[in-house]
Order: sequence, then structure tokens, then C-alpha cells
Amino acid sequence: MAALSWMDTPQRYGLVSRALHWGMAALFAWQFTGMAVRILVGRHPVTAFMVGSHAGMGTLLLILVLLRGAWGLANARRRPPRDVGLIGRLAQLGHLALYALMFIVPSLALMRAYGSGRAFAPFGIPLFPGFEGGPVSWMTAPANAAHGLLAWTLLALVAGHVAMVIVHRVIWRDDVLHRMAGRAPKQAPSPAE
Ligand code: HEM
Ligand code: HEM
Repeated sequence: MAALSWMDTPQRYGLVSRALHWGMAALFAWQFTGMAVRILVGRHPVTAFMVGSHAGMGTLLLILVLLRGAWGLANARRRPPRDVGLIGRLAQLGHLALYALMFIVPSLALMRAYGSGRAFAPFGIPLFPGFEGGPVSWMTAPANAAHGLLAWTLLALVAGHVAMVIVHRVIWRDDVLHRMAGRAPKQAPSPAE
């Protein structure tokens, strides 16, 4: 069997798409677990350790989702096509909603961080120097109102996403997991590879 290529193919996602998908899934797990620990455990060294990297990891996730979107567009004609009919259309809408939230959730938080007027240096890298006269309420209000809410909505959507992968595999028996993980199934050798 041919090795997995860098680019996507109509049979499966390639190395770059997979690295972005699973790497970002791990970083999201870190973000959500940290916030869940903060809510459940409260002030504690473990909370401080996990949440201490929240803004930095979130900024990294915003950069990664922009790269992933660009890579997705560059591979749009090569990656596994969506299924025909309503289910395929819903899957595409679901993926678009995931992208929208992956972009909006950290963007609102960054706008709040900027509008607070305080210097912001994720992982020690100076991003905004800070300014006199903050906070600027129109920059901080959207994240105050919606950052957490939209983040938990993203988590709910991810749960639905994973549930659909299981439904495909266990109930409909038209596995889609092999597109994003592991090797291609033996019974479906692809002439393109
Ligand atoms: C995509 C990346 C991100 C995810 C998934 C995420 C997720 C979350 C979640 C689940 C909460 C808890 C809300 C609650 O208490 O119910 C939260 C809070 C918070 N996040 Fe993020 N976050 C991300 C990016 C960022 C970034 C980039 C920053 C800062 C620049 C940031 C700053 C904060 C702050 C200050 C809070 C506490 C105040 C609040 O609830 O709005 N987050 N985040
Ligand atoms: C255990 C967790 C996960 C599993 C098993 C999983 C599985 C999959 C599979 C099998 C596909 C390919 C679907 C197809 O070709 O129709 C896929 C695509 C996708 N997944 Fe996940 N996923 C997980 C976590 C996540 C998370 C945390 C996110 C985002 C927050 C996410 C966002 C996406 C998106 C946007 C796509 C479309 C392809 C792309 O542009 O990368 N997934 N996932």
C-alpha cells in the first residue's frame, strides 16, 4: 500500500490535514479540560497550571485554524468528497459551523485582550504592548457576553461530530474514520494510490 501523501486524496486526508486535525483536537481537549477543572476544582495548582496556558494555546489555535482553512481550500478538489444527499449536506454544514466557531471563539477573546488595554504576551511573545485609557468596552463586551457560551457550543458540536463518526461506523457501516485515521480499508483499494 502506498504511504500516506502530504496532500489529501479523494480516498483519505493526507498527512498535513491529519496533523492539523488531531493536533488541534489535542489542544482543544487541553483548553476544555482546563476550564472544566477550573469550574469543578476552583483555585488549585493544577487549575493554575492548565489555565495558565489558556490564552497562549487559544492564540495558537487561532493561527492553526487559519492555516487549516487555507490548506482545506488548497485541497478542496482533492479531499474526500461529501456524501450525496441530505446527510452529506448536513455534514458539510456541520464542518462549516465547526470552522466558524474555531475562528470566532479565540478572535473574540483576543479582541477583549487587546481592548483591555493591558499588554498581552502569549508564551512570552509580545503581541500587544497595551495602552493608556483602557478598557475599551466595545472590544471587551462581545467576549464577556459570548466567549464562554460559544466555546461550550463548540464543545457540544464536537460531541455531535464524534457521535456521527460512531454512527457511520457502527450503525450505517460506511466508516469515515479511515479517511482521517489509520490505513485505508483493504477491501477498497484505491487506484489513485
Ligand atoms: C479556541 C480557543 C479557545 C477555547 C476553546 C476557549 C474556551 C474557553 C472556555 C470553555 C472558557 C470557560 C467559560 C466558562 O467559564 O464557562 C473560557 C474562558 C476564558 N477564556 Fe477562552 N478559549 C479559547 C481561546 C481563548 C483566548 C485566545 C483567550 C485570550 C486571549 C481566552 C481567554 C479566556 C478568558 C479570560 C476566560 C475567562 C472569562 C470568560 O469566561 O470569558 N480564551 N475559554
Ligand atoms: C475524537 C475526536 C474526533 C474524531 C474521532 C474525529 C473524526 C473525524 C473524521 C473521521 C473526519 C472525516 C470526516 C469526513 O471525511 O466526512 C473528521 C473531519 C473533521 N473534523 Fe474531526 N474528529 C474529532 C475531533 C474533532 C475536533 C475536536 C474538531 C474541531 C474542534 C474536529 C473538526 C473536524 C473538521 C472541521 C473536519 C472536516 C475536515 C477538516 O477540514 O479538517 N474534529 N473528523
